[in-house]
Amino acid sequence: MGHRYIGAKTRILGDILPAITDLVKPGGKVADLMCGTAAVSAALRQNGYSVIANDLMTYSYHHARVALLFTEVPKFEGTAGFVDEFLPTRAGNLFPLSPYERALMALENVPLTKGYFWREFSIAGSPKNSPAPRNYFSPENARRIDAIRTWIGRLASERCITSLERSLLLHDLIMGANDVANIAGTYGHYLSRLVGRAKDRLRLTPTQVPVAKDAGRHEVLQGYAEDVASRISCDVCYIDPPYMKRQYAANYHILETLAREDCPDAIGVSGLRPWRDQYSNFCTRTRIQDSFDCIFTKMNCRHFLISYSEDGLLSLSEMKALLTGHGAVTVRTFENKRFRSNNSELAPNLKEYLIHLHKR
Ligand SMILES: C[S@@+](CC[C@H](N)C(=O)[O-])C[C@H]1O[C@@H](n2cnc3c(N)ncnc32)[C@H](O)[C@@H]1O
Repeated sequence: MGHRYIGAKTRILGDILPAITDLVKPGGKVADLMCGTAAVSAALRQNGYSVIANDLMTYSYHHARVALLFTEVPKFEGTAGFVDEFLPTRAGNLFPLSPYERALMALENVPLTKGYFWREFSIAGSPKNSPAPRNYFSPENARRIDAIRTWIGRLASERCITSLERSLLLHDLIMGANDVANIAGTYGHYLSRLVGRAKDRLRLTPTQVPVAKDAGRHEVLQGYAEDVASRISCDVCYIDPPYMKRQYAANYHILETLAREDCPDAIGVSGLRPWRDQYSNFCTRTRIQDSFDCIFTKMNCRHFLISYSEDGLLSLSEMKALLTGHGAVTVRTFENKRFRSNNSELAPNLKEYLIHLHKR
């Protein structure tokens, strides 16, 4: 299934890339300032750009590292002992497996454990801060996640994997968990009964790791756009901010916990991690202007391309008024699919805007 992420631009890369190419030819430097799934960053790299990817969230950091930083196929050289211990004996008899596939298969096969995910996020657990168990994962998948997390941490601390290989395994675990999460759209709530793919076994599927001889051409940052802006010089800055009130840190708290490899207090019925340290101003109408002003003023860049939508907290005319203070503004409009939870009655399509600001 892959990413289920509010605002992911996978489907409209064909509209975004030509707009960037109109402003800077391949070879130029482009920032993807709120990169999310890193779909735009990956496409930019593939098209010959030098990319700076940034986001507030730790899972985005791992996605972006996987999309941008591999210059050779991952070797997983230090995992031979682990693979010998856990790879099913018949695996790879028909087709030879790569070291990465072997490591992933061994990881899928480690003995299940009852840990933090089982306790906090499965119906069989008993959460520390809530009387009712939560139903985000089947008890078996929660135990599998616990076991896989433990082993990724162990392989990293024993230096059996490189830091980039660790990002790749965390990316794979996040994608696998996403596939079997018992949710309607985001992790704001779980469903009362296990439905659909949530009943399936969690799988770790090998990523088609993009590899290119472009060492040192790309950079991955993690932080507030308002803060990192002063560290970035580029030809074009693509900005895809949240456009609704929904905070990503709250709605994707479980993915953040997988990415951070920690066991935070899970609070309330939904079991949210404390997330205020990743609060986004772009989800609050009255704070958007100051944050944009800060980015445009601090960054060494003349061209900003901003994605926004008709569902946004600001109307198109409000956005235009806000940007016009910084330079000349033009807008392209096209259709995209709306992000909807399973039972949503909203119309399937919505208008997307690509707004170009040519900074004075
Ligand atoms: C619409 S999504 C981006 C989707 C992305 N273009 C993709 O294709 O997956 C918005 C992203 O902005 C990030 N974000 C929100 N506020 C931010 C801020 N102040 N600085 C950096 N990133 C921020 C969120 O974490 C989220 O990943």
